[in-house]
Amino acid sequence: MKFKAPKGTFDILPGKYLEENSWKSSELWYEVEAIAAKVARRFGFEQIRTPLFESTELFSRSSGETSDIVTKEMYTFEDKGGRSMTLRPEGTAPVLRAAIEGGVVQKSGIQKLFYLSPMFRYERPQAGRYRQHHQFGVEALGSAGPEVDAQVMDLLLQFYKELNISGLKLKINSLGDSESRQNFRTKLVAYLEGRKEGLSEDSINRLKENPMRILDSKDPGDKEILKEAPSLLGSLTEASKERFNKVCQYLAASSLSYEIDPFLVRGLDYYNHTVFEVACEHLGAQNSIGGGGRYDGLIHTLGGPDLPGFGFGCGLERVMQAMIASKSQALFRPASPEIFFLPLDEKSSFACMNLCHQLRSTGFFCELGDWNTKLKKGLQKAYDANSKTIAVVGSDELEKGSFELIKTATKEKEPTPLSAEHLINLFETGVS
Ligand code: HAM
Repeated sequence: MKFKAPKGTFDILPGKYLEENSWKSSELWYEVEAIAAKVARRFGFEQIRTPLFESTELFSRSSGETSDIVTKEMYTFEDKGGRSMTLRPEGTAPVLRAAIEGGVVQKSGIQKLFYLSPMFRYERPQAGRYRQHHQFGVEALGSAGPEVDAQVMDLLLQFYKELNISGLKLKINSLGDSESRQNFRTKLVAYLEGRKEGLSEDSINRLKENPMRILDSKDPGDKEILKEAPSLLGSLTEASKERFNKVCQYLAASSLSYEIDPFLVRGLDYYNHTVFEVACEHLGAQNSIGGGGRYDGLIHTLGGPDLPGFGFGCGLERVMQAMIASKSQALFRPASPEIFFLPLDEKSSFACMNLCHQLRSTGFFCELGDWNTKLKKGLQKAYDANSKTIAVVGSDELEKGSFELIKTATKEKEPTPLSAEHLINLFETGVS
């Protein structure tokens, strides 16, 4: 019997086992995750890790009972103690749960957390949409300032910039405060009720429970009707309008270009005020490479103090795919050994092992070949591994205490003492 990865999931393997330029190569993932952490720390965010599963209620309370995630997409199971548990479909609710439980939000001032975590959604798999995906996410808790919204968006765009991703567009919108949304809801429902016969079945169902989600509909008939629909921005209270203007000014102060998209709403119910998404033109239908917004009130809903919050989640699969399309993955090559030792007999193998140990403990990547392998095959292995240098060591070299260091780029050979100290010096100054 052959086992396969579950539908909608994938394995991340070293690039040499994959077809060329695969987004599933572990070297790419390693580098991208390291850059995510580096950029997050540049903005003062610290890492948080939460469990892979949480109580189901955490998600139904936060994402919204009528959201697609809660109604269709959760991996929910009963544990042996009869509790309903769910594999985390998104990162915000678990981070807030942990921040409340761990006393993070009780500290004064803004608390900044980032995560790199797998998420699970039972969706119909297609390019860019998986049942297990990975997010780089950040949550800034405790400040309602519009400068926080702009800084978090700047962080996400700096991350993409470090990865040389091209073809990006930042789209923003404001859902306003609860009064603004109430105004809008009333106007929208009145408008759509009059055009109900032209709406899709999904949208008719949403009309009662969650009419704002209709704005996100992909149905051509709905889209036509929505062209003339009242706009969210037109329903904002003065205070919400003022706040949104400030966010735009802070974005301009960070030299970020953006587009206001009055139809932008998001799939989760916890948002208010600023919402945003970054679309990448190189991706297909699933072109949202990251998105987020403000969720003032959510910390309180989850049992914490009444504090505001702002964050984003960014799908790493789509990030890797956008890098490949932007031809920037070439920046991320697998590591290559500094030196490949090829001992010719067992005694030499012990000596090479000693050198390898010393070099590795100083931080250099080395490989030790098998002395039973024929020299020709060993050399081929060293070249295939892209080793910068090669050391063939046998009884003669041991006796002399020196060997010919092969520089693979030029095939030049250089007499070199068989000493760790000497090799460390040489590698520290760079082999030329
Ligand atoms: P989201 O828009 O549902 O937001 O997901 C964030 C990102 O995850 C998306 O923009 C997309 O890149 C990626 N993504 C989502 N679902 C999939 C999937 N099935 N396959 C591949 N990639 C996917 C959230 O999850 C919010 N928690 C973001 C947030 C954080 N808002 C505030 N703080």
